[in-house]
Amino acid sequence: MIGRLNHVAIAVPDLDAACAQYREALGASVGAPQDEPDHGVTVVFVDLPNTKIEFLYPLGENSPIAGFLEKNPAGGIHHICYEVDDILAARDRLTESGARVLGDGEPKIGAHGKPVLFLHPKDFAGTLVELEQA
Ligand code: CO
Repeated sequence: MIGRLNHVAIAVPDLDAACAQYREALGASVGAPQDEPDHGVTVVFVDLPNTKIEFLYPLGENSPIAGFLEKNPAGGIHHICYEVDDILAARDRLTESGARVLGDGEPKIGAHGKPVLFLHPKDFAGTLVELEQA
């Protein structure tokens, strides 16, 4: 059912430092910061030949990233995102198998303008999984 790895999201305590490190030390193609007020994050995409890295930095008062950075002050992998062809079919299959979909179970529009859902980390080896309809 799942397809390509769309991105790996890394929460970072210092967005400029993370961008500079990937640009200069790793020689990566680093995009411009984009504020996503609906999601409480500023994101930066790093384009790799086979996938993307998504830096997440808190935006606003109730950012979902703030608590993660409190527990992981140096930053860390926050979630991984797999592509699916049909997000509603994927959701129904997963809930039938007993996996928990976060929130109200309805897809939201994610940072790439496409429908996304998140799956409970306890159901997937301790990893927060995002599904994106590609
Ligand atoms: Co993501």
